[in-house]
Amino acid sequence: MDENIEISFGGRLHKFPIINGTEGEKAIDISSLRKKTGLITIDTGFKNTGSTKSSITFLNGEKGILRHRGYSIDDLTNKSTFLEVAYLLIYGELPNLSKLKTFKDNITLHTLVHEDVKGILDGFPSKAHPMGVLSSLVSSLTAFYPKSLDPNRSVEEINGTIIRIIAKLPTLAAWAFKNRMRQPLVYPNNNLDYCSNFLNMMFSLPTHDYKINKIVSNALEKLLILHIDHEQNCSASTVRIVGSSHASLYASISAGIAALWGPLHGGANQAVIEMLEEIKKDNCNVKKYIDKAKDKSDQFRLMGFGHRVYKNFDPRARIIKDAAEEVLNSLGINDPVLDIAKKIEKIALTDQYFIERGLYPNVDFYSGIIYRAIGIPTDMFTVMFALGRLPGWVAQWKEMRENNEPIGRPRQLYTGNISRKYVPINERKN
Ligand code: SDX
Repeated sequence: MDENIEISFGGRLHKFPIINGTEGEKAIDISSLRKKTGLITIDTGFKNTGSTKSSITFLNGEKGILRHRGYSIDDLTNKSTFLEVAYLLIYGELPNLSKLKTFKDNITLHTLVHEDVKGILDGFPSKAHPMGVLSSLVSSLTAFYPKSLDPNRSVEEINGTIIRIIAKLPTLAAWAFKNRMRQPLVYPNNNLDYCSNFLNMMFSLPTHDYKINKIVSNALEKLLILHIDHEQNCSASTVRIVGSSHASLYASISAGIAALWGPLHGGANQAVIEMLEEIKKDNCNVKKYIDKAKDKSDQFRLMGFGHRVYKNFDPRARIIKDAAEEVLNSLGINDPVLDIAKKIEKIALTDQYFIERGLYPNVDFYSGIIYRAIGIPTDMFTVMFALGRLPGWVAQWKEMRENNEPIGRPRQLYTGNISRKYVPINERKN
């Protein structure tokens, strides 16, 4: 039976259909609202507004559920590789052995970037933040692959564009780091798996090759899967709206990287470690910082805490917290900031301020501790988030294009000056 909602306005009753998602969620379809009533809706930050229908990722913020194409994040993290989950998100099904091999082989064949990228890289000062370098280098791919500019090309050509960005982002990310360190660039090694290849490009030097440590590459694999997609978050929505103008995949991903950079979004993983280091320097005075986070007159926020959707534990944070313990123990590292993080979690989760607002550790709260343990420098943390989120952005862009969605162009409520007479400059008083 079709469900409707009725709005009484202007002396009339207006009906709008209720539509249902496959997980029992319901939405009011207001696509005819302005035509029927002249009204628009306002929802700053889109806290109650859906921008699209999607079959990629399902979140239940109250129950702390995260599933990709129906598979739980726990199963995918414990049983699949990153490229396997990337395939699932982009093409909709888990691949069989031969499809996964073809996918991996195609990616391996495209890990090299054009030599002219080095010229672009040289233009960045060593203190350039790697996220800014990465966003620029991804956008520069349109220069080397001009056919990628047209998102309406054949399925095969779009797939080639997708394979190239999945293959080349680790190379571009590692080269952004080498630029920062003013160290010689390391080329991809096609004998290594995706994560080991990235670590090798990051940490090998002319004096010695990086020694692949399975604990480290497995931890990285797990982290990349945990970051792979998260429905209509800020950066995924950015990728979709940029792509909705028929901008290329590379231009849309470049915009997504810029959106992820913000400290309220993916930039939080860098901000968490900087916060934990500040607390460590301040005699580990955790209570002082919890009180600052609760003080409305203080700008300070507990970085890594809170989430727009999860009002319970972020399921990814739970997995990453366990992984952080495991990796530090396996590597024999005793990092005091892990203890500070656990102390913050313990105190905050019994404090009414956090409980009332449903503020729990999110994906960024513990991830930096693992990145640090495996040798990733702090200002590369959000680059790691981008590496993980790439297949999700690609899947969201591809779904938006395949659904032939219209260009995204929200309305507004104008609150400025009403019409007024023009005043020549010599008559203006103020
Ligand atoms: C990511 O969307 C996604 O899915 C994102 C992500 C993904 O995978 O793509 O999960 C990745 O971005 C995780 C979030 C990383 N950001 C941080 O850790 C930064 C710190 N957290 C916040 O700034 C905040 O919690 C947000 C941005 C994450 C969510 O903000 P909302 O949903 O807009 O909530 P809000 O700012 O309106 O806060 C509601 C209340 C407010 O208090 P009151 O006005 O009701 O009194 O909670 C308070 C806020 O002041 N609050 C916090 C807080 N977060 C919210 N108070 C102290 N410390 C915090 N961290």
